Amino acid sequence: MERDGSLTLRLRNEEVGSLAANALLLKVDAAPINPADLKAMLCSLEPDALYAVHDAAGEALCGNLPPELAKAFGWRLGVDMPLGNEGTGIVIAAGEADSAQQLIGKRVSTATRGMYSDHCIVDCNDCLVLSSSSPVELCAAAFVNPMTALAMLETMHNGGHNGLLLTAAASNLGKMVNRLCEAEGVPLVNIVRSDRARDALLELGADHICNSSDPNFRDHLINALVETGATIAFDAMGGGALAGQILHAMEDALARSAGISGPYGSKIGKQLYFFGGLDPAPVTFWRNFGMAWNIGGWLLQSELKKFSPAKVAAMKGYVVDRLDDIFSSEFAGTIALEQMLQPDTLQACMGIRTGGKWLVRP
Ligand SMILES: NC(=O)c1ccc[n+]([C@@H]2O[C@H](COP(=O)([O-])OP(=O)(O)OC[C@H]3O[C@@H](n4cnc5c(N)ncnc54)[C@H](OP(=O)(O)O)[C@@H]3O)[C@@H](O)[C@H]2O)c1
Repeated sequence: MERDGSLTLRLRNEEVGSLAANALLLKVDAAPINPADLKAMLCSLEPDALYAVHDAAGEALCGNLPPELAKAFGWRLGVDMPLGNEGTGIVIAAGEADSAQQLIGKRVSTATRGMYSDHCIVDCNDCLVLSSSSPVELCAAAFVNPMTALAMLETMHNGGHNGLLLTAAASNLGKMVNRLCEAEGVPLVNIVRSDRARDALLELGADHICNSSDPNFRDHLINALVETGATIAFDAMGGGALAGQILHAMEDALARSAGISGPYGSKIGKQLYFFGGLDPAPVTFWRNFGMAWNIGGWLLQSELKKFSPAKVAAMKGYVVDRLDDIFSSEFAGTIALEQMLQPDTLQACMGIRTGGKWLVRP
């Protein structure tokens, strides 16, 4: 992004430098276009604001950020940012460390910036090692959402909570969380915003689904919270009134099931984490949920640092073992790397909707 708010996306040839001891050189096979990738790539620009340019440096896709967006994405000013937060590939070369050398020829999945690329250098400690016979589509999104689902359950257990609530629950992540909670016996409340998303979760066998566009949403939510005892919420919206509605409903559910004995509300703690930014509106709420509550941010990379290496290794092992069921992802289609610079093609892949995620195949 330039100082005048102009944003340019282009493909670039780069020399692959020498490999550090733990480094792996991957031939990248596939990388998903996740909601966070779209935000980093387009800085919240609307799809129809993008236009193709052909200049001396080749093809590019450009847009102009209005001043408020340019301010919000000020950290992108002058930053040359490699895109694509996760993906899969085959290790074709490695640094001198044994742990790197032994991965040559293996398929790995990793969450490393710059996966929209035909080759990529990653640290061998940041990888999942997968079977070379696993379908590329399964391996492409094997890191971020699966590890997030597992880490959410860790956060829940570590915080002393016995059930959780998730918004945007028919997302790829949401479906993983549903299958994982079913496998682990964890009570789960799902919030979606459409009948289509609700039907997708019904098909999975979800017990508690609350549609925020239903006129009886609040009653459904309180009932589901009473039945599950969920006191921790992971909110992918990150904006609007939903977070406050969730905490309020939790407080009412606690009042109903445990009773409230004083003016400060329930003594049982309610925790809400924002872990996504699907709703760009400001967060608004009335503080009508007592005094025992916390709101925080939640990011996989930061959470993983709180766990022991043995715990992280166990989580990776769980993902590898259950990649074809609990942790599988769905894609609407695939595009080539070069097609990312075609406005029409990219616009088709930009909708963040249930079942609407695309895969880049360099
Ligand atoms: N913090 C972290 O470490 C972390 C890690 C992984 C994922 N995430 C976040 O998890 C979320 C899901 O990721 P994913 O890859 O699973 O996404 P996905 O498969 O692309 O699904 C996106 C979902 O978001 C819903 N949605 C989109 N805009 C919405 C809005 N304004 N209000 C309500 N729902 C909306 C869609 O529902 P409809 O079709 O009904 O619109 C769809 O089900 C994203 O926000 C992502 O950034 C965060």
